[in-house]
Amino acid sequence: MNILSIETSCDETAVSILQAEGDFKKNTFKILGDALFSQADIHKRYGGVYPNLAKREHGKNLVPLLKQTLQDAQMLIEKTGQYNAKDADVILEREVELKQQFADFIQAIDKPAIDAMSVTHGPGLEPALWVGINFAKALSVTWNIPVIPINHMEGHIFSSLLKKKSDSEFTVPSIDFPSLSLLISGGHTEIIYQESWSEYNLAGQTQDDAVGEAFDKVARMLGLPYPGGPEISKLSEQARKEKIESSIKLPRPMIRSDNCHFSFSGLKTAVLYALRDLPEITEQTKKEFAREFEDAVSEILITKVKRAIGECNAKTLIVGGGVAANSHIRNEFQNWIKNEYPDMTLFIPPRELTTDNAIMIGIAGYFRYLAGQKTELSTITADGNLKLAVT
Ligand code: KG4
Ligand code: ZN
Repeated sequence: MNILSIETSCDETAVSILQAEGDFKKNTFKILGDALFSQADIHKRYGGVYPNLAKREHGKNLVPLLKQTLQDAQMLIEKTGQYNAKDADVILEREVELKQQFADFIQAIDKPAIDAMSVTHGPGLEPALWVGINFAKALSVTWNIPVIPINHMEGHIFSSLLKKKSDSEFTVPSIDFPSLSLLISGGHTEIIYQESWSEYNLAGQTQDDAVGEAFDKVARMLGLPYPGGPEISKLSEQARKEKIESSIKLPRPMIRSDNCHFSFSGLKTAVLYALRDLPEITEQTKKEFAREFEDAVSEILITKVKRAIGECNAKTLIVGGGVAANSHIRNEFQNWIKNEYPDMTLFIPPRELTTDNAIMIGIAGYFRYLAGQKTELSTITADGNLKLAVT
């Protein structure tokens, strides 16, 4: 079957069409079309993501990205006046950037061979989530295709599991339970425990900042542009290559606490104080801070995951979310698991699918569709704090 997916939870607008086959044990996902627009350059000048600006940009970009995706999937067939977009107009009442573009585009094309749609309904920025949801609903009433709402974090888990079969084909392998997923992104830092695909349990989470947020804030203190994670990553890689040892020692908050929770705000504050004591911030200082910060984060993450493994005898470890793009963190996890838990399977996402994308939302949508999930359109709402797991 063909599934159209939409992701607008933060500052990436993404649309994809997947041809999905098989079940949890054996499956193939062929990417027929995949279009993504990152708003990072737009938000850069403000040093972070502004929800209403993100909403406006999603509204402007969704129709062009859908058009591109349909074209790539060879599903764009022009046929004037076929559809009445009146119901869609009502749904798009508040989406000023989208409404007219939608009517113009949709009325000029034939219904594509799409069997189901999936859309992120949280967690994330609510104004941004709503645009994607309303877009999916408007398409649903126009084309009479069901919509499955997806939790963004579930999407990240599937992203991590993806194995390449060819240039445009992936598979999600079946995994051994119990599994642990360390999800590290701009808004989340949590460890999820699962005994099967039908449940998500929370084993630990941050008590304050998310790890990606800490990367972004520390980068800002060092005068680096948004998003800061890749910038810190670059600098620390240089520091490691140039054998620049860090003369700064940062704390590892909560590393010895008797649980699997995290805290990153103290680490961020420690950077602030250490910087304040310096007469100037040189390129060398930036590299030293970047390296030590990355070391601190890796050590905290590994210590907490180790504790979680000890508590539940996990057979599978999944690391996912935007911060899993970090080379040092990826290497540290790979080496550590190879040395300490050689029988455990570690999943880290393909680099190009680590940060937000629509493919992961399509895959999660397919599995929910297979499980028989049917959601009444009117019940789909944006939930900025949507939880994946219960405690
Ligand atoms: O999953 P994601 O794309 O969006 C959210 O769901 O939040 O994650 C974005 C976060 C940002 O905080 C960004 O700075 C961080 O992932 N990030 C990185 C790297 N690439 C992205 N952090 C560290 N190293 C990287 N290479
Ligand atoms: Zn994300």
